Amino acid sequence: MPPLEVLQFPDPRLKRVSRPLDGVDDDLRALAAEMIEVMYDEPGIGLAAPQVGHDIRLVVMDTEWSDEGREKDPAVIINPEILTREGKVSWEEGCLSVPDFTAEVERSEHIVVRYQNLEGEEVTEDVTGLRAVCFQHEVDHLDGVLFIDRISRLRRSLYVKRRKKQLRLEEEPASLES
Ligand code: NI
Repeated sequence: MPPLEVLQFPDPRLKRVSRPLDGVDDDLRALAAEMIEVMYDEPGIGLAAPQVGHDIRLVVMDTEWSDEGREKDPAVIINPEILTREGKVSWEEGCLSVPDFTAEVERSEHIVVRYQNLEGEEVTEDVTGLRAVCFQHEVDHLDGVLFIDRISRLRRSLYVKRRKKQLRLEEEPASLES
């Protein structure tokens, strides 16, 4: 299998609504292991399957880990659903698929989520703080939504303009030298 590549905005594959998974098999375990590797390499605290070109409802996440030497404890999250939402919180978000940009996004502060783990067990979890924000960000990916779809239209369009310019420069490196 070729190494996984993280797709970046405006790749249209990031806008697809992913399909639910029906059980865990070896292919899924292998993909999850590879996604975990990519997540730590980048580094990121979460990665959703659509970001690596797979339109399935699979997410890997580790919100505790940082470069400061915490133990890695990756979670594999299958078919996540947000059951309840309470309160509001604003967090400065970024995304491996949205290069060179962060913005404050309003999310629910406290959520209850249900998902299946890699052992096929159903898990219900009460989450707050960064983990709750990350869950909502990743579930959005499964629905084809990026965090820049949740900021003001003006800020989004400024970013899109900058990103398009950057991509044009990447395409025509010769024009920079001439
Ligand atoms: Ni993201």
